[in-house]
Amino acid sequence: MTVPAPAGPAPAEPALTEPAVTVIGCDGGALPPGAAAALAGAALVVGARRHLDAVRLDGPAPGNARVAELTRLDEALSEIGSAGGPAVVLASGDPGFFGIVRALRARGIRPLVLPAVSSVALAFARLGLDWDDAIVLSAHGRDPGPVTAAALAHPKAAILTAPGEPAAELAAALLAGGRRVYAAERLGTPGEKVAEVTGLGAVLADPNVLVALDPAAAGGARPGGATGATGAAGDAGPGWVAGHRGAPAGWALPEEAFEYRDAMITKAEVRALVLARLGPGLGRTVWDIGAGSGSVAVECARFGASVYAVEADPAQCERIRRNAAAHGVGGSVRVVAGTAPAALAGLPAPDALFAGGGSGEVLAAALETGRPDRAVAALASVDRVRAVTELLAARGYRAEGVQLQAARLAPLPGGSLRLAGANPVFVISGERGPA
Ligand SMILES: C[S@@+](CC[C@H](N)C(=O)[O-])C[C@H]1O[C@@H](n2cnc3c(N)ncnc32)[C@H](O)[C@@H]1O
Repeated sequence: MTVPAPAGPAPAEPALTEPAVTVIGCDGGALPPGAAAALAGAALVVGARRHLDAVRLDGPAPGNARVAELTRLDEALSEIGSAGGPAVVLASGDPGFFGIVRALRARGIRPLVLPAVSSVALAFARLGLDWDDAIVLSAHGRDPGPVTAAALAHPKAAILTAPGEPAAELAAALLAGGRRVYAAERLGTPGEKVAEVTGLGAVLADPNVLVALDPAAAGGARPGGATGATGAAGDAGPGWVAGHRGAPAGWALPEEAFEYRDAMITKAEVRALVLARLGPGLGRTVWDIGAGSGSVAVECARFGASVYAVEADPAQCERIRRNAAAHGVGGSVRVVAGTAPAALAGLPAPDALFAGGGSGEVLAAALETGRPDRAVAALASVDRVRAVTELLAARGYRAEGVQLQAARLAPLPGGSLRLAGANPVFVISGERGPA
């Protein structure tokens, strides 16, 4: 069953009815208090096959209730809407956590929820790990790229994988990103298995939860080992906020934080504005076209974005890989070796793109191919400013531009300071409003 979170701002909730629907969580243990009475009085019981079976086997049989197997969420919701009496929905774990409660409320139903233990809580319990510092992600019905990048941006992550979709591929991407990966399969059933995923091509039984740990985090964040600090500089430490750790401890990093050649790097002051206009973050996909040293790509990945760094020069491609690895985001920056726009074909659509160089034709083609909500270009040549601004406006972007000329403080003999001016750069950006 897929219960995707609604994209964008939460829609206004419809008026809610009083509970005529009880949602019972199932975790393989005894049903929660109140479940038996709800089942006995139900006109309709809806649930996935495994939950219906579990109720029949070790719980009270639903009196004269009509029983409907839940295979498609929309059909189940329609059944519930026309139940003609009290309905019971059987769902896994805590139904209010990445579960059916959101979909019911979106239909104007305020259910009575009798939760069991979430599969995520069970997975961490089986591993003997604390998890209030973990980010929890759902891979249901979405591109695995941003899910992987978000997991790799955190030292401790749990992923609800979608049945029938390749959890093993997600696990492989997490392994490639340097994580220690555990799969918790079929929790609470006789077929339960919780084990480390050690190689590519693992075969994982549905349903399963993946847990990805950064071995470099303090204490090694491994089952049986001490866990504590999350490993990010400037982090306020564990035990006070669950889930996402927010922005990295610093950004617009100095050029020395990267390997680059011939001054071919977006300078820190310019990068600060570029990052602000791109808006990288968890769940976002960014194309960095003509990525050069990869400083923008790496910084976007440090915010949790899934990044495609497109670069024609093989030596620069290697440099991007080294820079990404040095900043611990090697699994979130995919280097696409090739010349844009041809190299863009087949890449997952971006939310934002950055063009650090290249011609207007490349930018035009990239906008056409990727259709991002945000586009940013950094230009050294004043000649190109007008064409790029007009291009963005013609494609429906609210375009704006600024010339940035930073002058850094530099020492003079005798303890004085001078201003060392950097070359001016134009940052042209565009944002598309809602359609
Ligand atoms: C729609 S989510 C529902 C999560 C649920 N509300 C909870 O708290 O566990 C479904 C996903 O939960 C995970 N899941 C549910 N039951 C599980 C089980 N018995 N063992 C392992 N993972 C399970 C799987 O990742 C599955 O694809």
